[in-house]
Amino acid sequence: MQHSSSSDNRPVAKIGSKNSFYYLLNRLSFFYFMLKYCMSIGLISGSGLYEIDGLKVCGEKPVETQFGAPSAPYRLGEIESIPVTFLPRHGFPHSIPPHKVNYRANIQGFKLLGIDRIIAVTAVGSINPDIKPGSIIIPDQIIDFTYGSRESTFYDSGKVVHVDFTEPYCREMRSSIISAAHKTDINVYERGSYICVNGPRLETAAEIEFFRRSGADIVGMTAMPEAVLSRELEICYCGICIATNFAAGITNERLTTSEVIETMNASTERLKTLLKAAIAEIPQNRSCGCKDALKDSGL
Ligand code: HPA
Repeated sequence: MQHSSSSDNRPVAKIGSKNSFYYLLNRLSFFYFMLKYCMSIGLISGSGLYEIDGLKVCGEKPVETQFGAPSAPYRLGEIESIPVTFLPRHGFPHSIPPHKVNYRANIQGFKLLGIDRIIAVTAVGSINPDIKPGSIIIPDQIIDFTYGSRESTFYDSGKVVHVDFTEPYCREMRSSIISAAHKTDINVYERGSYICVNGPRLETAAEIEFFRRSGADIVGMTAMPEAVLSRELEICYCGICIATNFAAGITNERLTTSEVIETMNASTERLKTLLKAAIAEIPQNRSCGCKDALKDSGL
């Protein structure tokens, strides 16, 4: 797919024509937002988490990107006086399956709003028998099984960029979340390998056994390409995963989506407490490598 780009071939924003009234209005409200929200955390929510207690919503911001529309208008709000920009990944109401999410539009939309840090909440199946349903995992690694089936780069024409992805999740944000978990006495798995599948079907028992032998702890359908697209735009990205079920074949139970939603619902209070504490814990200035991800990445 073609997309417009600046002279150095980095993707650029395109919100309407430059001379239009709506363009000016958009820029004005953008600058107002930037003034008010000198530091904002992006929050992508997954299945079962559409509202956050304590999130004071101040407005909505529909954004159009060069890749089309994000899953929903961004909700601008505050948690404990910290500006938060919230996007339900599957739309509101939930209608977009994981393989149809416009990941490029979602991540570029955050960038256009000036967001440089994203926390992504996702439901996952547990492959590791120690990780029981209801557990919270802060993953540190990703294995990508969606590769080739989703638009997974901003650099598919023009400049050739190979972004470093050794550590797919932002180290600084992970440690802020882990320290928030300690402070709030919430048990979390402090690391884990997330294998991302295309879905929408669930896995076979043989696939899960194969993933387990490959070192995966949890399986989900959305961390990729979200994580790599964020890295390509030098946005810090980290995940908070809720194990909603044991993955196929780990127990003899048949998997149901109602089990996923029920476990997610049962975990939301802990999740919200963790989110609030984590958002307050993230330092104002970034000192991780994500902000310089494009340095020395081009050919
Ligand atoms: N597999 C894939 N994605 C999931 C699962 C699962 O078992 N549970 C929640 N998301």
